[in-house]
Amino acid sequence: MRYDFDQLLERRNTNCSKHDNNTVLFGSDDVLSMWVADMDFPVPEPVVDAIKKRAEHPVYGYTFPQASLYEAIVNRVDRLYGWKIKPEWILFNAGVVNGLYSAVEAFTHIGDELIIQPPVYYPFYSAIKNTGRQVVYNPLKEVNGRWEMDFEGLEKLFEVRTSFPARTPRIKALILCSPHNPVGRVWTKEELQRLAEICLKHDCLIFSDEIHCELLAPGVEHTATAGLSPEVQANTITFMSASKTFNLAGLATSYVIIPDAKLRRRYMEARAGRNSGNVFGYVATEAALTQCDDYLEQLRDYLYGNFKFFTEFINTRLPQLRVAKSEGTYLAWVDMRALGMDTLELQRFLREKARLALDDGYAFGPGGEGFQRFNLACPRSIVKEALERLEKAIKEL
Ligand SMILES: Cc1ncc(COP(=O)(O)O)c(C=O)c1O
Repeated sequence: MRYDFDQLLERRNTNCSKHDNNTVLFGSDDVLSMWVADMDFPVPEPVVDAIKKRAEHPVYGYTFPQASLYEAIVNRVDRLYGWKIKPEWILFNAGVVNGLYSAVEAFTHIGDELIIQPPVYYPFYSAIKNTGRQVVYNPLKEVNGRWEMDFEGLEKLFEVRTSFPARTPRIKALILCSPHNPVGRVWTKEELQRLAEICLKHDCLIFSDEIHCELLAPGVEHTATAGLSPEVQANTITFMSASKTFNLAGLATSYVIIPDAKLRRRYMEARAGRNSGNVFGYVATEAALTQCDDYLEQLRDYLYGNFKFFTEFINTRLPQLRVAKSEGTYLAWVDMRALGMDTLELQRFLREKARLALDDGYAFGPGGEGFQRFNLACPRSIVKEALERLEKAIKEL
C-alpha cells in the first residue's frame, strides 16, 4: 500500500512528549517541535490491525512474547544483516534505555568505568552515572565534515589504565551507538571490526545499541557488530527494537540479543523483577517486522528526500551553518558555531527568535557545543517551515 508521509497529523492533546510539552520544556507553545526521536507519521496499517485484534480480547493480563515473535526477529536479523542468531539468545525489555541500565548493572560494578563516544545519545551518560559507574570519554573526531571514531584515542585509554599508578583496568564496557545518534554515521564493517578487536584485546564488553539500524540512506548498509565473528559475538550485547523504524516508542518494547549463555544468565539475574515488553508491544513488533517492508521502503525514500531538501536549503540559503552528511537515522546534526553564540544564547535564539524546539548539542556531551539536532521525521512542509523560521531569525540578527 502507499503511505502519505506529507499528511499533517494532529498529535496535540494525545499526551505526546514531542508536542504537548512545549511550554514546560521550551517556555512557549509557539515553537515547532523537532526534538525527541519519534516520527510525526502514522504507524503502518498491519501494526494497527495487530493491536486492534489483540485489544478485542478483553483481558490484558501478564503476557509473554509469542514464539512467532522470536522467529520473526531471528529471520529479520539474518535477512537484513546476515547475522544468524538463535531464539533463545533473545530477551525482551521495556525499551532500549531500560535494557542498557540492566546491562550496566549486570556486567559492571559500582565504580567501574564504561566508555562512550561523544557527542552521543544522552541517556548513555545517565545509564552509567545513575548506577554509580564512571563515564570515560573517547570523543569522535570530525574529519572533513565526517565524524569518525578515534581508535588511537581508544587504545590510549586502555593503556593509561593498565600502567602505573592505576594498574588495575577498570574499563569494563563500551556503549556503542550504531548507527550513531546524533551525527548520523553508519559505521562501516572495517570500523566496527577495528573497534571490536580493540575491545576484545582489552576484555571490554560492547553494548551495541542498534536501534536506528534500519533507517539508512540509499546505498548504505548496516553491519550488526556481533555478526562480525564468533569472538565478537561472544563479547557483544546487542540492543534492537522496532520502535524507531515503525514509530512504536510508546509501546515500550525492545529486545536484546545475548549469544553467550553465561552473560545471558547474568543479565537475566540483574534485571529480574523489571518489566519486559507488553501485551500490545509484542504483537505490534511482530507485525512490524514481518508485514511492513513496503512502509520501510517508502519511509526511507521520504526521509532521504527530507534530508536532501534540508541540506540543500542550508547550503544555499544559510551557508554559515553546516549539516553533517547523513548515512542513517532521521536526525540531522547541524553545526551552528559560526553564529558565534554561547550555549545559552543559542538556546534562547532558537526558542525565542526562530521558535524551534530542537535538541541542544551540548546535551550530547563533549564536542556537541554549538550544534543542534533536528528530527526530520515529519512532513516536508514542516521541515520547510522550520528552515524558513530559522532563516528569518538569522537575517534579523
Ligand atoms: C540511540 C538510541 N537508543 C535508544 C533510544 C531510546 O530507546 P527506547 O525508547 O527503546 O528506550 C533512542 C531514542 O532516541 C536512541 O536514539
